[in-house]
Amino acid sequence: MGIKSLVTGGSGFIGSNVALELERLGHDVVVVDNFQCADRNNLRGFKGKVVSWDISTPHLFETKFDIIFHQAAITDPRHPNDEETYSKNIEGFKQMIALANRDGAKLVYASTAGLYGNGPVPMKESQAKQVLTVYGRSKLKMDEMAEELFSKRHIVGLRYFNVFGPREAHKGRPASMILHLYHQMKSGQQPRIFNWGEQVRDFIYIKDVVAANLKAVEAESGIYNVATGVGTSFNELVKVLNEVMGTQLEPEYFSMPYDSNTYQSNTCGDTTKAEKYLGFKAEWSLKKAIQDYLEWLKME
Ligand SMILES: NC(=O)c1ccc[n+]([C@@H]2O[C@H](COP(=O)([O-])OP(=O)(O)OC[C@H]3O[C@@H](n4cnc5c(N)ncnc54)[C@H](O)[C@@H]3O)[C@@H](O)[C@H]2O)c1
Repeated sequence: MGIKSLVTGGSGFIGSNVALELERLGHDVVVVDNFQCADRNNLRGFKGKVVSWDISTPHLFETKFDIIFHQAAITDPRHPNDEETYSKNIEGFKQMIALANRDGAKLVYASTAGLYGNGPVPMKESQAKQVLTVYGRSKLKMDEMAEELFSKRHIVGLRYFNVFGPREAHKGRPASMILHLYHQMKSGQQPRIFNWGEQVRDFIYIKDVVAANLKAVEAESGIYNVATGVGTSFNELVKVLNEVMGTQLEPEYFSMPYDSNTYQSNTCGDTTKAEKYLGFKAEWSLKKAIQDYLEWLKME
């Protein structure tokens, strides 16, 4: 029998990509999801077991797991119920720690670059946090809980920057801006970005994020950025999309509808710690990744 792996949020964007790759590598994979924000089609071709369950409540898994990849969370920073975002994300994490303790399993979980707020770039794991949303607060609390366990067990937190790629469409508005801009441009519309397109993001391809999860299994306990280290402005992103799509569409600028105190205007990850201790370096350039993603979208 293969390595027994549990993927929480396994029908969501990152979880489904992780689950499918683990299965391809020969793991015996169980997926759990409450299907609150998921697309069952994301698991097309997946042969493992799918458990429909809310992981913030106890569940007696029959399988004894070797590794848990904890991706489940209420992920929309603008989810209308703050109390639910916080309590479900924390309770779900507690349940996964308890399960990892029961089985002596390795535990890899998703954190976020959102908790660097508008702090200095490139963002280092150790810098002061600036939590702008309840979602970010729940992830910071998870990181603090993990830090207390570093000396006792394997636990690795991955602070994802802006992830994009196949199997994200179900997220709707919170899906990557790359997907939204692609749809606008494909239908001949000008790509709509905030005034004046100078906001910066560290866009990372899902295939790199899956690779980081695999590296995390062998890494020492810790919290690591999962970033490319390259910041791309929204204007530059439109240029790359035009190049890949063979279009020449100028951006249409509009006023940012969000409170600038809760909006990150510039994110870019420092990758030094991840390269050294996680053994992870992103391999996909933005242009290559967008080409790969667009091929996938055309086939869908
Ligand atoms: N996508 C990004 O750019 C990004 C950036 C930073 C961090 N993250 C983190 O990565 C993880 C995965 O995000 P994603 O982009 O795949 O989002 P997603 O919404 O597609 O996936 C989350 C999945 O978790 C499930 N879920 C939510 N609460 C649950 C619960 N209580 N019990 C069982 N299932 C539950 C949802 O139904 C969904 O399938 C999340 O923890 C998120 O915070 C994502």
